[in-house]
Amino acid sequence: MSEPAVRIEGVAKRFGGFVAVEDVSLDIPKNAFFALLGPSGCGKTTLLRMIGGFEAPSEGRILIDGDDMARVPPNRRPVNMVFQSYAVFPHMSVADNIAYGLKVAGASKAEIAAKVEAALAQVRLESFAGRKPAQLSGGQRQRVALARALVKRPKLLLLDEPLSALDKKLREEMQLELVRLQHEVGITFVIVTHDQEEALSMATEIAVMQKGRILQRAGPRRLYEHPEHRFVAEFIGASNVLPCRVVNTDGAHALVESPHLGRIRVERATPATRDGVLLVRPEKLRMAFSTPEPEPGEVLLDATIEQTAYYGDLSFVYLHLDDGTRLQCSRYNTNRIARSDPPPGTRTGIGIHPDDVLLVGA
Ligand SMILES: Nc1ncnc2c1ncn2[C@@H]1O[C@H](COP(=O)(O)OP(=O)(O)OP(=O)(O)O)[C@@H](O)[C@H]1O
Ligand SMILES: [Mg+2]
Repeated sequence: MSEPAVRIEGVAKRFGGFVAVEDVSLDIPKNAFFALLGPSGCGKTTLLRMIGGFEAPSEGRILIDGDDMARVPPNRRPVNMVFQSYAVFPHMSVADNIAYGLKVAGASKAEIAAKVEAALAQVRLESFAGRKPAQLSGGQRQRVALARALVKRPKLLLLDEPLSALDKKLREEMQLELVRLQHEVGITFVIVTHDQEEALSMATEIAVMQKGRILQRAGPRRLYEHPEHRFVAEFIGASNVLPCRVVNTDGAHALVESPHLGRIRVERATPATRDGVLLVRPEKLRMAFSTPEPEPGEVLLDATIEQTAYYGDLSFVYLHLDDGTRLQCSRYNTNRIARSDPPPGTRTGIGIHPDDVLLVGA
């Protein structure tokens, strides 16, 4: 197997008595689009800054391409970083901003011109080369910062919340653009975000952090459908949580007794999961207004609609079971001409299939 792009070994970072990053070990493979995801203050930027060389680990070591980076300053690492506040030089034109790093490195005029032109094309700013940052939109400035980081062809590009300042539409465009760029230039991307959808849609792999530690590292689908911790489940997407008692476990499954779902066999989050709660994603619930009959293998519950939130493409329905337990259910609005969402107080069946239920440690 080839060397990982980044190897993080038992890394901790303390600021005085405060532990910002604790015992993180992580291999980031070459050509990955790797996302660090977690709530504000969990240590994402600190970890990224240590990879970039802007902070020194209090413990452990970081290798890039197999080389220990302990005494290597940021400008000598095969790395470029786009900072959380994507700074560009306001007095320089777009082209000069992009050329800056190459000039400092002493590249020839011809080389600079060729590379700047290629970088401008990569971020689709060919016609903006002569403008100053003040004459650009936020998204265009963002792309200048990216081009500036890409032009030196780092082996590793570190991006700290690179899209956080953009509106939803532009953000989605830039997400696609970043993925396209990463394919095109074939370098390893490590992106920090606290936006779960952004991580799910862009990354090949995601590490979820909480309080300085990595809780789970997995591909997007695995992380969403098979979270190993309740925190991960609730941080990524919405979840319904139901209590249960574990009767016994066998292999990847557990037989559980649930006050709502009865005695069912469900998958468990990890081989060590011996108790916990049941987790079902909102889109896995089937609302059954007109067919109060369970489908094969399904458990059908009686529920009352409390409230519905309409988002255009889908609606989120908030309900409660007869014992007061709250559930949420999402439904795609697949027909343009449809009846409106059912009003509060409407009774409905809720079908849940045990295959869609996961036992996670509480
Ligand atoms: N130089 C510093 N001195 C002291 N504490 C710091 C320093 N830098 C970061 N911290 C603390 O370390 C913790 C992690 O900070 P970090 O910037 O890594 O969080 P983050 O996950 O990037 O959060 P956000 O999503 O808000 O950017 C925070 O509690 C922060 O206050
Ligand atoms: Mg941060």
